[in-house]
Parts: sequence; structure tokens; C-alpha cells
Amino acid sequence: MTLTCCALLRNLCLLGIIVGSAARAEEVAATPVMGWSSWNYYTCKVNDAMVRSQADALIKTGMKAAGYSFVIVDDCWQGERDATGALHPNSKFPNMKALADYVHSKGLKFGIYSSPGPKTCAGFEGSFGHEEQDAAMFAEWGIDWLKYDLCSFEGTSAEEIAAYQKMHDALQKTGRQVVYSICQYGKDRVWTWAAGVGGNQWRTSADINDSYERMSLNGFGQNGLEKFAGPGHWNDPDMLEVGNGGMSREEYITHMSLWAILAAPLLAGNDLTTMSAETLELLTNQELLAVDQDPLGVQGHRVSQEGPLEVWVKPLADHSVAVGLFNRGESVMPVAVSFADIGFTGAVSIRDLWKHKELGVLREALTQDVPAHGAVVVRARARN
Ligand code: GLA
Repeated sequence: MTLTCCALLRNLCLLGIIVGSAARAEEVAATPVMGWSSWNYYTCKVNDAMVRSQADALIKTGMKAAGYSFVIVDDCWQGERDATGALHPNSKFPNMKALADYVHSKGLKFGIYSSPGPKTCAGFEGSFGHEEQDAAMFAEWGIDWLKYDLCSFEGTSAEEIAAYQKMHDALQKTGRQVVYSICQYGKDRVWTWAAGVGGNQWRTSADINDSYERMSLNGFGQNGLEKFAGPGHWNDPDMLEVGNGGMSREEYITHMSLWAILAAPLLAGNDLTTMSAETLELLTNQELLAVDQDPLGVQGHRVSQEGPLEVWVKPLADHSVAVGLFNRGESVMPVAVSFADIGFTGAVSIRDLWKHKELGVLREALTQDVPAHGAVVVRARARN
């Protein structure tokens, strides 16, 4: 009897720990993070004034109201360590705490970047050997998000995983809630262990760039990873390139549609201070953002592939389903989905999330002409 009780208690206790840590992860990233990050547009040219102007633009353009709430300084902010080991920002960031305060004063959250290796990807000072000291300083500055980018780290997979755990423990020790973003380009089946070391999101692929080819590889390449994502822990096909000029409108529609169906973090990577009305419209399509941010937190997956034509679905909390019809080909083509294949038996009402228009009630299937490199996304709902 005593033994049974002890075993029961131990199991409850273990369950408590598991449930407890999952609850913490869900608190900081219940839905995929949305915000702006410096890397895709500024790379190493970023400075304090530029980041402030992007924070201002998030408010002024309505991006914040649409859900984009994080302002993130990626690589290239670091200066030297002093005799005590404390890392100072370089001259382009005169006072990181003041910058964080400024961002917070706008009701936004602040994120920063470091590496488990001695050097970051751009060759600046990493956190290797200074994990606790750096985490304490980041917390003092008031960071809400940390990207930890592998780059110069040398070691076995086990050592790499331990290095990610180490920074997570150091962040936990500060008592500050920080979204932990793991970046090691999808090596070592990161999706199988990243949540276990406290990761709230993890990159699953090589760096995106502003081309249809690379964006497609990152986005369409996510199929099969859906079971590893959920509230508090997300696959990350990398930051957005929307508005940077290298893709057509249809290609950027594919980019946004795919990322939303994937429940991917949405970090705008363009210059928000000069973006066109069209770019803003692409980034703030509320009906599409609701798919990305749906509270059920299920990552979508591919249900059919026929040459360049693909159909992806994402189940949503209200029992409707987001359906993405993608055409990766070079000319306009009809893409079809049979309702039976996506779990509907009777009549289905269809709403186009880019046209913001009801397409009607259908019974068997939906067929839409999809432009070259383009996408149509609908919300399908059983009509009872
Ligand atoms: C790596 C990352 C990028 C960016 C750069 C910065 O390449 O994958 O997202 O952070 O480093 O140097």
C-alpha cells in the first residue's frame, strides 16, 4: 500500500513537473511570436536609432494593433568584454537598457541575439563561457526574447544540446520570462529535442533569403514536422522577407499563406518606415493572421501534391479548417481539393481569406485557379 502510494505520488510529481514546464512555455509563446527583426533588411548595418524608428513604425502603421509586438535586434550589436567578463554593446548601441526601455514604453517587447559559441555568425562576441553572466545582463536590460545561434560552437550533438540547455537554465535563473529561440539551421533533428531544452521556437532550415526558391524550400520543406509544434513550442522556417523587393506579390502571398498555415513565428524583416501600402496589406491580413495565431496551435500539413500543385490544411479551434491551395508552377493552373480528403462529409461553406469574400456553400470539392507561384487560402466550415 505504502509503495503504491509512493509510486502514485512520484508519478503525480513527475506529471506536475511536466505539466508545470509546459505551462510555462505556453505562457511565453502560447501562439507563434509576431514582431519585427533587424536581420533580413539591415544585417550588420543595424543601430540604435534604426531600431527605435522600426518600433515607432510598428505603432504608426498599425502593425502592433495587428499583433506584431516584438522588436528584435539580431546579430552585430556586441562590443567587447571588460575585465570582469561583462559584455558591452558596440558603439552603435550606446545604451541597450535605454533601448529596451524605449521599446517597452511603446507597449512592445524587446529581443536580442547571442551564440553558444565564442563568436556569433557575423564574428562578434558570443556567450560561450559567460552564459550566466550574459543571461543576467540580458535580464537586467529587460529582454523578452533571445535568439541563440549556433555558429562557431564546436562539439558533439550531445554537447550542442547541453549548450542550449545551459542558456535556458541561465535564463530561468534570472526569473525573467524570456522566449527562447533556438537557431542551428535544423541540424540533428532539432525538432525532437528543442522543446525539451526549453526552446519556444527553433529554426528548421538554412537561412531564408528574398527569393521564391529559398522561401519555398524553407516553407514547403516543413511537411512532416507538424507533430513537433504546439502552444509554447514552434517550428521556425525563418523570418519574413515580405516587402524586401525580391519576390512578386503572388510569391509574397505564398510566403504569408504558407507561414500562417505552418503556425510559424511571424517576424517581419523589411523596413517598416518606408513600406508600401501593398506590403502593409500583405503583412496585416487579419483573416490570415488569425490562422497563424489560432489558439488550437496545430501546425498545418500537406494533404496532396500533384506536380507543382499542393494542398495544405490546418485545423482550427472552432472546428473550421484553413486550406491552402498552392501553385509552384510557372503558369496559372486550377488546384482542387476534395472535401472528403480533408474530413468533411456534408455541405461546406467556403470563405476566401485573401479576397475577404464568401465563395458559397459547396458539396464535393473546391477548385480554384491559382496564379503561378501563388496561393489561395480559404476557411472551410461544415454547414449543418
Ligand atoms: C545566422 C542566422 C541568421 C542571422 C545571422 C546573423 O546566419 O541563421 O538568421 O541571425 O546568423 O549573423
